[in-house]
Amino acid sequence: MAVTGSIAAYKTPQFVRLLVKAGAEVKVVITDAAAAFVSPLALATVSKHPVLSSVSDGATWNNHVELGLWADALLIAPCSANTLGKLVNGLCDNLLCAVYLSARCPVFVAPAMDEDMWKHPSTRLNIDKVKSYGNRIIPVGHGELASGLVGEGRMAEPEDMLKYLEEYFADAPLPLKGLNALVTAGPTYEKIDPVRFIGNYSTGKMGIAIAESLAARGAMVNLVLGPTHLGTTQQNIKVIKVESAHEMYEASLRVFGETHIAILSAAVADYRPSKQETNKIKKKETDLSLDLTKTEDILASLGKIKAPWQTLVGFALETTNELEHAQEKLVRKNADMIVLNSLKDEGAGFGLDTNKVSLLTSNGGFKELPLQPKKDVANAIVSQIIEIRYAKEII
Ligand code: CTP
Repeated sequence: MAVTGSIAAYKTPQFVRLLVKAGAEVKVVITDAAAAFVSPLALATVSKHPVLSSVSDGATWNNHVELGLWADALLIAPCSANTLGKLVNGLCDNLLCAVYLSARCPVFVAPAMDEDMWKHPSTRLNIDKVKSYGNRIIPVGHGELASGLVGEGRMAEPEDMLKYLEEYFADAPLPLKGLNALVTAGPTYEKIDPVRFIGNYSTGKMGIAIAESLAARGAMVNLVLGPTHLGTTQQNIKVIKVESAHEMYEASLRVFGETHIAILSAAVADYRPSKQETNKIKKKETDLSLDLTKTEDILASLGKIKAPWQTLVGFALETTNELEHAQEKLVRKNADMIVLNSLKDEGAGFGLDTNKVSLLTSNGGFKELPLQPKKDVANAIVSQIIEIRYAKEII
C-alpha cells in the first residue's frame, strides 16, 4: 500500500484496517507529502509493520526491489496528480516510485484530486497512459471535495476499494485450483503413561503458514496437526488433529492417494516408548530406563508409494554437515524437495515468527533464502513447488 500527499490520506488507516481484517498482510510506503496528512504512527499501528518513506534511513537501506517482489498487489491510494505524473514518466525520486517500478504484481491506483485537476487534459492523458501500462484505476467518487466544491475526483471510499480488490482477486487465476495438498505440522506426543509423554518444542507455526499459503493459491488442504495451541480458520483447510507419530502416519496415509502436493513439516518423534503403561509409573528408589521402538517414517513411507503426478516435500533440521545430510535425506526418502532448517541461524527455530531455510530440489537446484517471516518462507516454498510442477508439466 502506497500513500501520497492528498487530504484523502486521512482515510488510509481505516482502509489498512479493513485490508488486515480481510486477511491481508499490509506494508505501507508513504511520500513525505503524505506524512503531512496522515500519521505514519497510525499506519504502522494498524498495519503492524514499520512505515517506510525513504530509500535509506541513514544506516539502513530499504530494499525497494524486495518490497516490490514481496507484494501480491500494490495499491497507490490516494494517488495525487503529482505521483500519477511520475508513474507515467517512470520518475524515481522517492521510495514509493522505486517500489512501483520494481513491482511485478498487479498495481491499483486510486486517484484523488480536485475536479478541475481530475478533468484537466494532462490528467486524462496520464490516466490513459498509466492504464496502458497494465495498471488498474479504481474509479474516483463524486461528492464534496477539499476545495469546498462538489464534483468528481474524490478517492473511492475504503469499503469500495476493498470490494474492488476482492472482486479482482476472486477472478484471479489460482495456480493450485483443483489440486489437493497434505501438510503435516507440529510435534507428536508419544505416551509413556497416562500423564507423561515424549515430545518436542515444535509449535506447528511453519506448517500452518504453509497450509495457509497453499489454500490461498487455490489448493484444498488436509492439515494433519500434532498437539499445539495454534490452529487456523482459513477456508479450504481441513484440520485433522492427531497426537502420536502413529496417528499422524495413519492420517497422512489415508489422504495421500488423492494428494497432489504433500509437505511434511511436522517434527515427528523418531521413537516411542515400547510399552505404554495404563497406570501412572510410580517413583522408585532405583533409576528408570525406557525401552524405545522406532516410529514409522511418514516421509519415507510416502516416498516409496509416490506417483509421478505427486510432489513430496520434506524438512530437515540439521546441526552438523547440514547440506550433506539434507542431500542424503532428499535421496533416501525419495522427496522432490527438502527444506533445510538450521538451528544455528539466529531468528530461526521453534516457536519464532521468522525462519531461515534453504531449498534443495531433486533436480540439483539449491536456493538459500534470507531470514524472513514464516509467512514469507511459506510463500517461497509453495512458489518453488509450483515451479517444480510446471517444469514437470504436472500443473
Ligand atoms: N519425518 C517423518 N516421520 C518420521 C520422522 C521424520 O515424516 N518418523 C519427516 C519430517 O516431517 C521431516 C523429515 O522427515 O520432513 C526429516 O525429519 P528429520 O527428523 O530431520 O530426519 P530423520 O529422518 O529423523 O533423520 P535424523 O534424525 O537422522 O536427522
